[in-house]
Amino acid sequence: MEATVLVHDQQPSSATLSLQEELLEGLKATPKIVSPKFFYNWKGSELFSRICEQPEYYPTRTEEAILHSFADDIARHIGDEGILIELGSGASRKVRLLLEAMRPVSYLGIDISRDFLIESTRRLAADYPWLEVHAACADFSQRLEMPRHVQGKRAVAFFPGSSIGNFSPLAAERFLRDLGSLLPTGSGLLIGVDLIKDEAILNAAYNDAKGVTAAFNLNLLDRLRDEFDADIALRNFSHRAFYNAEESRIEMHLVSSVAQDVTVAGEKFHFDEGETLHTENSYKYSIEGFQALAIRGGFQPRALWTDPQALFSIHYLERA
Ligand code: AVJ
Repeated sequence: MEATVLVHDQQPSSATLSLQEELLEGLKATPKIVSPKFFYNWKGSELFSRICEQPEYYPTRTEEAILHSFADDIARHIGDEGILIELGSGASRKVRLLLEAMRPVSYLGIDISRDFLIESTRRLAADYPWLEVHAACADFSQRLEMPRHVQGKRAVAFFPGSSIGNFSPLAAERFLRDLGSLLPTGSGLLIGVDLIKDEAILNAAYNDAKGVTAAFNLNLLDRLRDEFDADIALRNFSHRAFYNAEESRIEMHLVSSVAQDVTVAGEKFHFDEGETLHTENSYKYSIEGFQALAIRGGFQPRALWTDPQALFSIHYLERA
């Protein structure tokens, strides 16, 4: 049987324009900054999948191990819920463990990387013939909107990978409140959150020996060339990632190795030698710190699972 995915699109034209405006605004700022969502063209999504396989990058395998060990307990806490919504579904790998334990009627994958999303959800539909599979391409750093078929319905949202860490704590709180406003009372949120730990482990995870994270970071410049008419030489930039303990976050930057001018979408930007373009923050939390944030965001912590070394956590929250 042909596997079908029901695709729900946001209006693409206006979205593209504001993406460029957002990009230029960040390049004009001091220090220069760009949203990590710009990483995720097809190549970027692929590189991210490869990061997840690197021995230094513990979050993916640790989160999968937690899901694997506790799938039944997690499903029990979620209860009899028919709709599962995954935010930032990417390759839709982790959700398989959850689908099998939970057996919802309907799955909706939401991701910013459209072709990647459609291919991943197609594979899901093929592998789970009993599941109704929907895909929605959306940028959930903007205001979140749900496709009509799930609007107003109780559901469980799954936000894995510690993608919440890309938001500042304040923006994360706002995101949770927005998400809560789209989910009726009693709905749940299963969310993966990376934990504060030994800095050496954190620094290694974002500086893998094979250089996959570096390639992922630099791919952003390739994307700017392909989609935003940028004139930038990749060899004039290098990858830098480090843990900023004061802010409890990994920072990723692209460092300009020379003084140079680059053009993006017809506008010129100057980089001094050593000046950086800040490409990502990845915030880390303590368990209590995240639970307090969740409460401020309108959710009630219900259950929590971690690995034996407390590298990573998965929280089950309910809309208060
Ligand atoms: C997808 C945002 C969770 O912050 O660890 C991985 C992205 N960047 N390596 C993370 C990422 C560099 C990842 N998140």
